[in-house]
Amino acid sequence: MPGTVVPDKASVASILHQSAISMILKRLAHSTRRLLSNSIHGNPLDLPRVARQTGTWAHADIEWLASKVRTVAGDFAEIGVFRGAAFRKLARLASEQGKRAHAFDSFVGMNEPAAEDGGHYPKGKFDIGGPDQFSSLMSEAGVERSCYELWPGYVPDCFTAVPPGKQFSLVILDVDHYHPTLDALRWLSPRISPSGILALDDFLPHADILASKAIKEFLQTNHDFERIAFFNQQLILRKLAPAADS
Ligand SMILES: C[S@@+](CC[C@H](N)C(=O)[O-])C[C@H]1O[C@@H](n2cnc3c(N)ncnc32)[C@H](O)[C@@H]1O
Repeated sequence: MPGTVVPDKASVASILHQSAISMILKRLAHSTRRLLSNSIHGNPLDLPRVARQTGTWAHADIEWLASKVRTVAGDFAEIGVFRGAAFRKLARLASEQGKRAHAFDSFVGMNEPAAEDGGHYPKGKFDIGGPDQFSSLMSEAGVERSCYELWPGYVPDCFTAVPPGKQFSLVILDVDHYHPTLDALRWLSPRISPSGILALDDFLPHADILASKAIKEFLQTNHDFERIAFFNQQLILRKLAPAADS
């Protein structure tokens, strides 16, 4: 066409080169922003880069948690498993580390809310119809019944049959209500091995109801844990080593 300028080979190569550089620079800027945002929030820089949805545990995050306790003695557990969306991953990871996984739940949903729950989560919410139904869901997900244990009942009754001396290296706690969260934290605290991880869902630092209230009260009096990450309303604590005798 008259007047059309056809770029020569050198110009085309230069344009491609510049767009490749600009793409690399954009990616670098994105990674730097992510790392900075992790460090600003006090999070470890190796936290997975993953899309997160509040109220659920990202499998990449569970993998990351499990990687931190590979050399820590003790089983894995989740208290408040619902349909096992997180537990199926936790059970597989436990098995890879030669550990057992424990699922604690009423399996018939929430108990009555207390005054501290502000009327949230009525009795029966998250009812899946009992522990057998949970096992069916696990087997549909390819998790064999032999690699996990079930502890049905409301917190704290579901803890009574657990053998004394049982230790855990990784526990996810996700029961929403104030009283079972506080009871579970108190029960768990001496049962988490040194360097073991306690992963808490539904932590809103400024809320004064539900699990947030229980977590804040627990941390005011219990100084056995350090905070290692906070993302997606999930607070990750690590048990400190016992103080050496002076
Ligand atoms: C939000 S769901 C857990 C979701 C699950 N962690 C996940 O990632 O898919 C809360 C679970 O806690 C259980 N739960 C709540 N209060 C409980 C209590 N007092 N005792 C036992 N289980 C309880 C419910 O039955 C429900 O399965």
